[in-house]
Amino acid sequence: MAIGKLSLRKIKITDERYFSKWWRDKELLALTSGILEPLADKDVKRYFLAMLQSGNDYHFIILLDGNVIGHISLAKRKNGWYETQIIIGEKKYWGRGYGTKAIHLLLEKAEKLNNANIYLEVRPDNARAISAYENSGFVNVGIKEYPENKHLTQTIRMELKKEP
Ligand SMILES: CC(C)(COP(=O)(O)OP(=O)(O)OC[C@H]1O[C@@H](n2cnc3c(N)ncnc32)[C@H](O)[C@@H]1OP(=O)(O)O)[C@@H](O)C(=O)NCCC(=O)NCCS
Repeated sequence: MAIGKLSLRKIKITDERYFSKWWRDKELLALTSGILEPLADKDVKRYFLAMLQSGNDYHFIILLDGNVIGHISLAKRKNGWYETQIIIGEKKYWGRGYGTKAIHLLLEKAEKLNNANIYLEVRPDNARAISAYENSGFVNVGIKEYPENKHLTQTIRMELKKEP
């Protein structure tokens, strides 16, 4: 069970050090992009700055009792859709309800986005993530195939059910 206070804050320039750790963690990478090759420092910097400066997207750091444990984002896509992504980079905090809680906090913020449609994509074998998403109101709407991507050939697309 989750104990401790979870909160979200906007990402800031000094957060790069967390991403440089998480983006090189093979266990995390295997659950997300699937690209396990080590990232050079300059690439970490480039991807991080792109994230920090992306005007259309919302990036939040997940804090547990004020300590950084992860990242959650909402990125603007086509036709009024937003895609959400989450990682709890500090693995000792997996499976304790914090992911579900962080999604809840993000969805509260998203209420301001005027009825946004929110979806995510997840690896079909990422059972922990899928449970957290189902518990947060997302439903499986089908498989998306990426035949060209050898690191991630398919995902499950899940969409947030809207209140009637
Ligand atoms: C995915 C992630 C954000 C979920 O956050 P979390 O805090 O670990 O998840 P929660 O504790 O809120 O919920 C996990 C659910 O999965 C279940 N679960 C826990 N461990 C599990 C396991 N090894 N296998 C399957 N289900 C598991 C839990 O019981 C819970 O469901 P329940 O409440 O219905 O019982 C987090 O685990 C994470 O960052 N993982 C690594 C990166 C990742 O996979 N990101 C998502 C990419 S799409």
